[in-house]
Amino acid sequence: MTTADRLKMSLGEAMFTQRAMRRLKPDPIPEEIIRDIMESAIRAPNGGNTQQWHFIVVKDADIRKQLGELYHEAWWAKRKDQGIMGPEDIPPGKNSQRSAMRLANEFGHAPVMVLICALAKGGANGIIPAAQNLLLAARAHNIGGTIATLHAVVDERVKRLLHIPDTAEIVYCMPLGYPRGEWGSVTRKPLEEVCGIDTWDNPYK
Ligand SMILES: Cc1cc2nc3c(=O)[nH]c(=O)nc-3n(C[C@H](O)[C@H](O)[C@H](O)COP(=O)(O)O)c2cc1C
Repeated sequence: MTTADRLKMSLGEAMFTQRAMRRLKPDPIPEEIIRDIMESAIRAPNGGNTQQWHFIVVKDADIRKQLGELYHEAWWAKRKDQGIMGPEDIPPGKNSQRSAMRLANEFGHAPVMVLICALAKGGANGIIPAAQNLLLAARAHNIGGTIATLHAVVDERVKRLLHIPDTAEIVYCMPLGYPRGEWGSVTRKPLEEVCGIDTWDNPYK
C-alpha cells in the first residue's frame, strides 16, 4: 500500500476541517504516519521542480525540549515587536492570540516538530505549498498542527541546535500531534467579500 492509498479522507473534508490545532496530545505519532506526512509534503509544487527546501523532523525528547524553549522565546519576541509585553496585554477569552500563547507554553510537549527550511534566504515562497500538503496529509491521519514561525532573536541558536546551515532560511516550525480539540470546520469571510470576478471590485456572486 502506498502513501496515496493510505490518505483516505476526502479532499473536501480535509480542506474544510484542517484548522490550526494548537492543543496537542503528547502521545507519539507512529513512524509510518510521519513518513506519509513527509512523503506528501515533498510532493508539493515548487519553482521549476528545483525543490529548494529541506525538512527536519524532530522527535528526540531533548531537542524538542530545547526547541520548545526557543519557540516560547521567539513567540514573546514577536509579541514585544507588536507592543504586547505580557499575558495581561492579550485579550481574555477564546481567541487565536490566547490559543497561540498557550501553544508557546506547550510547544515543547508536541511529540513531533517539523522545521521547513528554504535552501537559500528569501526562498520562503517556494516552500509554502509543501507546508499545506503536510498539514492536509496530517489531517487525513487525524494529526493536528499549525504553521508557526520563529523570530530572528532565536535564529542562530535554532540553527546551531539542528545543524542548519547559515545559508538556509528557517521558514516554518510546526508542532504535530494527536488533537486535544475538535476539528470542526474552519471559519472564513464569505467568498464574495474576498474574491472578485474579472475585476477586484466586482464581488463574486
Ligand atoms: C504564515 C503563517 C504564520 C503563522 N504563524 C503562527 C504562529 O507563529 N503561531 C500560531 O499559533 N499560529 C500561527 N499561524 C496559524 C494561523 O494563526 C491560523 O492559520 C489562522 O489563525 C487561521 O486559523 P484556523 O485555520 O484555525 O481557522 C500561522 C499561519 C500562517 C499562514
